[in-house]
Amino acid sequence: MTTSTLTQIESDLQALQQEATGAIATATDLDTLEKLRVNYLGKKGQLSQILRGMGKLSAEERPKIGAIANQVKEALQGALDTKLETLQKAKIEAQLKAETLDVTMPGVGRPLGKMHPLQSTIDRVLDIFVGLGYTVAEGPQIETDYYNFEALNTPADHPARDMQDTFYLPGDRLLRTHTSSVQIRHMEQNEPPLRIVAPGRVYRRDTVDATHSAVFHQIELLAIDKNLKFTDLKGTLKEFLRQMFGEDLEVTFRASYFPFTEPSAEVDVKWQGKWLEVMGCGMVDPNVLKAVGYDPEVYTGFAAGLGVERFAMVLHKLDDIRRLYNSDLRFLRQF
Ligand code: DAH
Repeated sequence: MTTSTLTQIESDLQALQQEATGAIATATDLDTLEKLRVNYLGKKGQLSQILRGMGKLSAEERPKIGAIANQVKEALQGALDTKLETLQKAKIEAQLKAETLDVTMPGVGRPLGKMHPLQSTIDRVLDIFVGLGYTVAEGPQIETDYYNFEALNTPADHPARDMQDTFYLPGDRLLRTHTSSVQIRHMEQNEPPLRIVAPGRVYRRDTVDATHSAVFHQIELLAIDKNLKFTDLKGTLKEFLRQMFGEDLEVTFRASYFPFTEPSAEVDVKWQGKWLEVMGCGMVDPNVLKAVGYDPEVYTGFAAGLGVERFAMVLHKLDDIRRLYNSDLRFLRQF
């Protein structure tokens, strides 16, 4: 084997190392780097091709070229490894940068609904009574004459029916004029003692104006037990009104009349310098207890009814009841 072949292989190896080192240095992504590795150090790569020429070398020459080839291979492998590490690091850094969350960016606002002032008033009243040991009950808005009037000690010819102008429906049906009908339904289904609050919508043939609406809301109160007295009614309503309107509230009970209570009273509170009528109440009339099969000699009870709109208007200083119904967002956003 001639020396020229030996030198040829040596210089081929040097040229390969130079070229490959340059190419590896300029690689900017992992794909290119892998292609370079296959191209130079792969099974059919350039280094293997050059070494195939070793067959022509003599036995003394071969180890010499073998040693050089190894050096070249190690140098290239080292360059590939270093570059691989650099590119991998760069890739992760780029990814981190791209995926960074800027927590100082302003959020995307989502419009939030709010509680309607009527509903929040109902909830406040119910919360107070639940705190006093009452449970919430409900009844239908379409009622019969019996539940709305008859069982509440208000027979057909009773003058008190004029107090509540009624919407009548075909058949023996009507739109309930008050939540007092829930008293009867609840007592029919339950045994005393009982304590309930019943919120709901009621209907009257009233001309709509700043203080009247044909559809409005009431909350009914009913407590039946042995030995309930008028003082229990007074104490309960005073405590409720104190929680609703504040500590130093002046409250008076004024004699009144309702067919379903005896005696009956209307409750006034002094609110911002003025006396306001806030609820009707009284001791449950024995005829009402009889209508549901309770023995009036054993049980007594008290009842009360309040207008939710009235409370909402006082609490929020509203000038017109209609604002509560016409869904004007400029109004509703204030609550
Ligand atoms: N139902 C009466 C009304 O609508 C209000 C009322 C008064 C309810 C006295 C009662 C009560 O439970 O005891 O005018």
